[in-house]
Amino acid sequence: MPAQRAHVARTSRGQTAHAAHRIVLVTPSHGPPVPSNYVKPLSRLVRDAEHAPLARALGPLNLTTLGIGSIIGTGIFVLTGTAASQHAGPALVLSMIIAAVGCVFAGLCYAELAAMIPVAGSAYTYAYATTGELFAWIIGWDLILEYALSCSTVAVGWSGYASSFLRDLGLALPAQLTAAPGAPVTFADGHVGVGLVNLPAMVIVLLVAALLTVGIKKSANTNTALVIVKTLVLVLFVAAGAAYVRRENLTPFIPANTGEFGHFGWSGVLRGAGVMFFAYIGFDAVSTAAQESRNPQKDLPIGILASLAICTVLFIAVAIVLIGIVPYTRLNVADPLAVGIDATGLTWLRPLVKIGAVLGLFSTILVQMIGQTRIFYSMSRDGLLPEVFGRVHPRFRTPHVSTILTGTVCALVAGFTPINILSELVSMGTLLAFVLVCIGIVVLRRTNPNADRPFRTPWLPLVPILGALICAAQMVALPWPTWQRLIIWLVIGMGVYLFWSRANAERTRLAS
Ligand code: ALA
Repeated sequence: MPAQRAHVARTSRGQTAHAAHRIVLVTPSHGPPVPSNYVKPLSRLVRDAEHAPLARALGPLNLTTLGIGSIIGTGIFVLTGTAASQHAGPALVLSMIIAAVGCVFAGLCYAELAAMIPVAGSAYTYAYATTGELFAWIIGWDLILEYALSCSTVAVGWSGYASSFLRDLGLALPAQLTAAPGAPVTFADGHVGVGLVNLPAMVIVLLVAALLTVGIKKSANTNTALVIVKTLVLVLFVAAGAAYVRRENLTPFIPANTGEFGHFGWSGVLRGAGVMFFAYIGFDAVSTAAQESRNPQKDLPIGILASLAICTVLFIAVAIVLIGIVPYTRLNVADPLAVGIDATGLTWLRPLVKIGAVLGLFSTILVQMIGQTRIFYSMSRDGLLPEVFGRVHPRFRTPHVSTILTGTVCALVAGFTPINILSELVSMGTLLAFVLVCIGIVVLRRTNPNADRPFRTPWLPLVPILGALICAAQMVALPWPTWQRLIIWLVIGMGVYLFWSRANAERTRLAS
């Protein structure tokens, strides 16, 4: 790695000073100089990582299962139904291919950055080393939409399958306690009303938080077992359902647009991609475990790319079988794979799919929450969040306070927000992060051409540019209210940064 160049900084009195790191001082007309957009040197990032007190317990297999554990979830088990019935019809397969291509390109960029900067914090950390503190903050803040909100989203998906499974066993929960206020529910007598609170979703998030507080190794082993279960269930779904695919269910392949953007036709295919993008989110969670990995420079790219490749193949196969065995119009339900199985008459598979979803979605929440707490950990170490988010339990060696805080907030959100609002916001936030990561690769190749790159993204700048464009196109296809929520979230984030985080990060740097 090249030596960091000392940068000449200019103070308000016109003196020059050599800063060890690249801190550019802007001179306001009154008052002291304020630092603008500090770019964290790679050497410092790696040094910080070496001093991290987290346990290094994860190998390449653990990291790949961590990725699969994070990827397979509500997207494939629930949102396939929404995307097919509301947006794309049988062209759900095309939507999934578009989303997958964007993710593969972004995944290649993540792999390069993760190997080069093997530090917890994922895209947040990469931005700190490329575009500087301001963008790092924006990404870190934006990633809360990805990780914390997807814990809540997947918990709502889990609640749908768990309630349906209990109902099959004759243990139906009161319907209004299984959905957010305003979300539609069907009561035992068949009439349709609205929910009060999604209690199962809240309970599962709190349970995961409790498990994660106890320790990463135990959690990783639990995750591996659960990943095997949910992967097998999807493979079984494809193997058993393939014989029942009917050509008539696949025509018309792209139903005509209804006159509204995003409702069938090509705009529906693109919106379907934006919705189904949620299904692929999670491979980047591998990079958040960099400091718990035994050999991060070699194993992180393996974990990211292997988990993404396995899930892409599996998801496209599941989508083809699902839309081939049941008319897409019947898929607007909380448990579309179970509806698909019903259509085949393979009733023995129905409970297996539900058990697979219940166990599998549990592991997705687990990994997403690990990702969120590790990003908080990194942001807190940098002073952008309060110190409490970086506290590590002396015995469990886990960021226990931030895990408990994250769990509590995610549980409240899961209890009171409908799944479509949550999932679209997660997709939006993550797509933005991916666009920035793709741009970051190009920037870093220019600003740090000689840095050690154990993994190199191929065909630069084509791959990152196409990755950024495909992700941006999916953002454009998402509904305007989702854009409004993203903008409000980012404005709040800028307020926090300007009024607290920026000054605290500066104090933290000076003290270290
Ligand atoms: N990809 C994850 C899921 O589908 C977030 O639940």
